[in-house]
Amino acid sequence: MSDNQVKFVLTERELPTHWINLMADLPPGAPPPLHPGTKQPAGPDDLAALFPLALILQEVSAEPEIEIPDQVRDVYRLWRPTPLYRARRLERELDTPAHIYYKYEGVSPAGSHKPNTAVAQAYENAQAGIRKLTTETGAGQWGSSLAFACRLFGLECEVWMVGSSYDQKPYRRSMMETWGATVHRSPSDLTEAGRSQREHPTGSLGIAISEAVEVAAQRSETNYSLGSVLNHVLLHQTVIGQEALVQMQMAGEEPDVVVGCVGGGSNFGGLAIPFLRRVLREQATTRFVAAEPAACPTLTRGVYAYDFGDTVGLTPLMPMYTLGHGFVPPPVHAGGLRYHGDSPLVCGLVRAGLVEPRAYRQNETFAAAVQFARTEGIIPAPEPAHAIRAAIEEAEAAREGGEPRVILFGLCGHGNFDLSAYDAYLAGELEDPEFSEEELAEALAGLPEAPALS
Ligand SMILES: Cc1ncc(COP(=O)(O)O)c(C=O)c1O
Repeated sequence: MSDNQVKFVLTERELPTHWINLMADLPPGAPPPLHPGTKQPAGPDDLAALFPLALILQEVSAEPEIEIPDQVRDVYRLWRPTPLYRARRLERELDTPAHIYYKYEGVSPAGSHKPNTAVAQAYENAQAGIRKLTTETGAGQWGSSLAFACRLFGLECEVWMVGSSYDQKPYRRSMMETWGATVHRSPSDLTEAGRSQREHPTGSLGIAISEAVEVAAQRSETNYSLGSVLNHVLLHQTVIGQEALVQMQMAGEEPDVVVGCVGGGSNFGGLAIPFLRRVLREQATTRFVAAEPAACPTLTRGVYAYDFGDTVGLTPLMPMYTLGHGFVPPPVHAGGLRYHGDSPLVCGLVRAGLVEPRAYRQNETFAAAVQFARTEGIIPAPEPAHAIRAAIEEAEAAREGGEPRVILFGLCGHGNFDLSAYDAYLAGELEDPEFSEEELAEALAGLPEAPALS
């Protein structure tokens, strides 16, 4: 291959055949989710009102690998395997000796990594005879992915879209409706949860989750679908990292550091898990950096405690870094990162010191996104702009240290529907909301009573 190769592309035959379950490689004794009422460990039965058995079994599985159903792989073929790029133009602009690679998930129909799990979840629900899925969406990437996946498997789809995103990203709603979904602005008047949160008109992921869960729990032919946080979602996303492992081998390089943005942890987990497994099994020395917004700094400022996954308190209690389920993050444009908690699996990895979290302010992430767009061409979604900021920081550190460094980051979605955010940045009108100690104290005061986590 020429020395200047930019794209590393796999054939459809190289699509992964299995998902990787990192739970099997972690030391036993991880704290279990708890039933919200009894505070006893939540078992598969507690999840049955919302999820089909196949997904519940994936959620609690101890198998290291789980086969991807053929029907799911057939849909993956529409856009997978996704390309890995070497960011040669960005490297030149930064004048860095570092080699920067990015795995691009924006080539999916919805424009992000979210269809990797939406398709798997819609398939298993359809197999179980479910007729309709409800869900929340932050930036609209997840809702549009589930709308697309439901359409392919003949399911209805009803989406509660976080109010601030509904206003900022009207074309995401158009996409969902084009694929046949029904979309509500959250908080809505359609649910008790929504009506109880009218004083927060910008909404939050936690509120929208409460609305979607409330509706699914009341109807037997309707299930709920979550686009992040849970083990089975991270599991489905591991197609990203498995492909990237092979593509890095094609490039003849080994990443020193793997970087991703974290909202609930699914794109970060999906990219990092196959590399993390090598650290756990083969003593590889890869570092991992999780990038989050300073306005919603769950991993960097949250407490490690049991908390609800939603605002109203309908979901099991999960062991995670949390800002408190009552925390309503300011309406930053990275709507997919406005979540008070995080995946218990990713939180456990942060706690174990295997993943380093970093928080970035809105303007510095948009500066990185614009620098990336002006060199590499792709306009990133505001969420992966956080990963780009961290990757640039790594590349600058390599330049300062005069040392080589191989950086791999997840470019988990494009920002073609996020241009109002770019308008605001370019006009100098973007705010950098700060997260105050008072806000933290107030949000944490509402944590549910539950066993302390050591
Ligand atoms: C493009 C994009 N990136 C990242 C996220 C954050 O989710 P996660 O941390 O699960 O990848 C979202 C969530 O909506 C998203 O739309």
